[in-house]
Amino acid sequence: MKFNFAKLSAVKAGAIVVFAVQGPGLTKSAQQLDKTCKGALSRALKASRFHGDIAEIIEVLAPQGLRCSRVLVVGLGSAGKAGHADFERIGGQIVAKLQSSGETVVSVIMDAIGTLAITVSEAAMRLALGGRLRSYRFDKYRTKEKAAKKPSLTRFVVLTSDYKQADQLFNNQDPVIDGVFMTRDLVSEPANVLYPKNFADRIMALKDVGIEVEILGEREMRRLGFGALIGVSQGSAQEPQLAIMQWNGHAQKATPKPADKRNKTSTSASAPPVLLVGKGVTFDSGGISIKPAGGMEDMKWDMGGAGAVTGAMYALAIRRARANVVGVVALVENMPSGTAQRPGDVVRSLSGQTIEVINTDAEGRLILCDAMWYAQERFKPKVMIDLATLTGAIIISLGHEYAGMFSNNDDLCKQLSSSGFASGDKLWRMPMGDSYDGLINSPIADMKNVGPREGGSITAAQFLQRFVKPGVAWAHLDIAGMAWSSKDTALWEKGATGYGVRLLDTFIRDHHEEK
Ligand code: BES
Ligand code: MN
Ligand code: ZN
Repeated sequence: MKFNFAKLSAVKAGAIVVFAVQGPGLTKSAQQLDKTCKGALSRALKASRFHGDIAEIIEVLAPQGLRCSRVLVVGLGSAGKAGHADFERIGGQIVAKLQSSGETVVSVIMDAIGTLAITVSEAAMRLALGGRLRSYRFDKYRTKEKAAKKPSLTRFVVLTSDYKQADQLFNNQDPVIDGVFMTRDLVSEPANVLYPKNFADRIMALKDVGIEVEILGEREMRRLGFGALIGVSQGSAQEPQLAIMQWNGHAQKATPKPADKRNKTSTSASAPPVLLVGKGVTFDSGGISIKPAGGMEDMKWDMGGAGAVTGAMYALAIRRARANVVGVVALVENMPSGTAQRPGDVVRSLSGQTIEVINTDAEGRLILCDAMWYAQERFKPKVMIDLATLTGAIIISLGHEYAGMFSNNDDLCKQLSSSGFASGDKLWRMPMGDSYDGLINSPIADMKNVGPREGGSITAAQFLQRFVKPGVAWAHLDIAGMAWSSKDTALWEKGATGYGVRLLDTFIRDHHEEK
């Protein structure tokens, strides 16, 4: 689907979208349209109990007097209140409604709508962004979809006075959606297609956009001492991989301007990177502590953290972000077999700390602790963020609205929370503390890999914190409730959401990028 912006003009074909505020009151261009079709719109609003609530839609087919095939009237809520997230939602709803309707072009008329919480061009950009997010489908394995169910919509045009600025704003955000789509592709793939080696191959391809990529295989990790990660992987026929992606955006040349006298020193080129670490369990059967059969198929998306880190690195690279960022993803499959690790086994992590594996299904923390340690030793970051579908308990706590955030640093939390709000990938901070930490002490090793059932997400975070080096500002994002959706929403069809990509991109833009 193509998204563009154009100047306000009469629309002669396809679907038209106009707006109404609560009341309901049609906007100026909606009123004009209503006149042209002899009051068909206002009559339809009355007949349908339309209030103009945010994203409420009524559809008028083939209105007399108009050459277009249908008009959608969309609610904007109370005048002056609709913000960036609302316009994304509305854009998404429009696509959801029209994508397979037989319509090929939709023109959204975004004229000056009295007061808005944001500028008209920003609103126009958000409409297109939301529309594009909602247009994603993962249909490579559907061979028998009926023609009438297939997407028909190919163009989404926003007509607005300052269309040049809207276009500029859109182009600034559009690469991030490519990153979101990469993540959705990775997360959607079944585990027979996307296993550690193949995931690493896909990451290798990011060399093409200027990311430095290295892959460590089992032999190297064994030699280096990744005992906790290898313990998880040893029951699987698939070889584990550690993928390291480096984006040195500070070293990127700015578009040369003759008058630019800024003195670029090498200090920023070698600035310590922001480190992103992702859990990439391509399938989590639970291992010997095997999961129940019902719903186990969901565990193909237990690599959502690694998927988000990969998509975010891609987005940063294609928009040539002026920041140094390193992404490290630990890729393993957790399987039961004669070679699998047993409950009670003690493993030695890369950090030297020993771990009693009480439950082989608490595997995410075991691979993350080695990946985090390796990356901190090697890259000396000041900031480290890990993303993981780590615990079912976080879904009990927060449902599917917020990911859980655990951190040793208040400032980092504030930054991430606001990036979460701005990007739509929302975060809610959870508590940590010594008394929780004590719950994972082991009688035989330095720690055990699970605590009691209560507070399961918190003890998981405490476990990870034991692998954070002094002086590193760290946040752990438990995204188990967010990586996948069993329902259609405004911005995605049910399935992989791409959660985390927009969050990380916004965070880097706002706090780590040279302006
Ligand atoms: N990948 C799961 C967490 C998960 C569960 C994500 C459900 C999404 C939906 C993780 O590896 C896991 O199995 N965690 C266990 C931990 C327990 C054994 C302490 C859990 O949450 O039950
Ligand atoms: Mn598990
Ligand atoms: Zn898992």
